[in-house]
Amino acid sequence: MKLPNMLDAAKRNKDKVEYIYENRDYNKIYDNKKYFIRTYGCQMNVHDSEEISGILDNLGYTKTEEFKESDLIILNTCAIRENVHDKVFGFLGRCKHLKKQNPDLLIALCGCMAQEEVVVQEIKEKYPYIDLVFGTHNINELPNMLEESFGHQKINVYSTEGNVIEFDNVYKRDSNITAWVNIMYGCDKFCTYCIVPYTRGKQRSRKPEDILKEVKDLVSRGYKEITLLGQNVNAYGKDLEDKTSFSTLLKEVSNTGIDRIRFVTSHPWDFTDEMIDVIAKHDNIMPYIHLPVQSGSNKILKLMNRNYSKEDYLTLFNKINKIKNVSITTDIIVGFPGETEEDFLETLKLAETCKFAGAFTFVFSPRNGTPASKMKDETLKSEKDDRLQRLNKVINKYSKESNLKMLRTIQKVLITGISEKDDSKVCGYTENMKLVNVIAPKSTIGKIIEVEITGAKSFSLDGKIKE
Ligand code: 5AD
Ligand code: SF4
Repeated sequence: MKLPNMLDAAKRNKDKVEYIYENRDYNKIYDNKKYFIRTYGCQMNVHDSEEISGILDNLGYTKTEEFKESDLIILNTCAIRENVHDKVFGFLGRCKHLKKQNPDLLIALCGCMAQEEVVVQEIKEKYPYIDLVFGTHNINELPNMLEESFGHQKINVYSTEGNVIEFDNVYKRDSNITAWVNIMYGCDKFCTYCIVPYTRGKQRSRKPEDILKEVKDLVSRGYKEITLLGQNVNAYGKDLEDKTSFSTLLKEVSNTGIDRIRFVTSHPWDFTDEMIDVIAKHDNIMPYIHLPVQSGSNKILKLMNRNYSKEDYLTLFNKINKIKNVSITTDIIVGFPGETEEDFLETLKLAETCKFAGAFTFVFSPRNGTPASKMKDETLKSEKDDRLQRLNKVINKYSKESNLKMLRTIQKVLITGISEKDDSKVCGYTENMKLVNVIAPKSTIGKIIEVEITGAKSFSLDGKIKE
């Protein structure tokens, strides 16, 4: 049994990162078994689930969307806020009785919650029927862990290991049009509210040559769009021996000829002028930047350890906003410990100034082991909820306004599938990341087409294929 430890997880050891090229031969030993996987949280988790699915496919498992008929249930979890915790344990409760019908059923929990000491303690004490718990650092060990977890609870979570694992023969894609590409793992920023530096470990960048090899392979398979993933992509390469920067990487990825490149998430701290220049100059780097601000109050930004002021953010925002057709979105937390009404009003004012194309807004959620969870917090929950509502009103107003500006324009849209709202339509994203429901034939799926924008709602656009 290997248990997570928050103190160990906070350490940034000087050990060299090992690059492990995982190219084992998998045996299809679970040939007639089915697995179900549910993912909570960010794109990084979504992509980890693709990797897990790739390994399970290699082992002979087939995927099912029905958890009640599966032989293996995997919950890939998120620890960013408390609400997922309740959902995950609620779902696990619904799985318990399934073991009576199928004694061979395996239930596994992985991802960021598995890296939390308190969660694993809770599982040990109250959920003996969970067979396997594994963390974010050892997905590659899944084949052995599965074998070993039959018959007793296996917990295998490393806190400090920070290797980069390159899967050579695991196919890990849900879509054949758009693909996630990790460029780095972990985060060293330690924003005081955030659990990620503990659950995902120290920053480890993938080598540029491995990233480029993956992107070239995607191009040759006909992929149209890739999204480069990292908790803080602007800091890419700071930990590499040759210190390749994110702007250099972006240029090289652009040269592969892939139609569209996106990246998330950018931290204002490391966003350089060179990056802005590279984005502006390359047509296949999409003009869409997610730039979390978190708060408009300098006092709160300092308490959050964000390392920039409201003024720094606005200067950067204005520079990025000059890129042609760019849209900028953000993340904002309200109700951080010590946030007064005046601090909150500064956040509202910043939202009014920036007129973001969209924003993810959250009420602060104390995470066990983080510095902010120990800060004095006197604001009532009702007051925090009220701030969230007031903020959302402003955010939605500008989101709609930014959509209205696109009315009657012609946009290039990558069609990714059938519209969820209306199955007679298809849907896709503009270059600046607006969802459009389009009147066009299904044969356009997988293609970039020109679309005339005919309608604008708060969170999506309507359009028709240009004649
Ligand atoms: N409470 C509320 N929101 C949080 N986020 C991260 N940690 C917390 C927390 N403890 C938000 C931040 C981040 C986004 C991914 O989640 O806004 O940018
Ligand atoms: Fe969390 Fe801050 Fe790192 Fe983002 S940059 S993952 S908010 S610690």
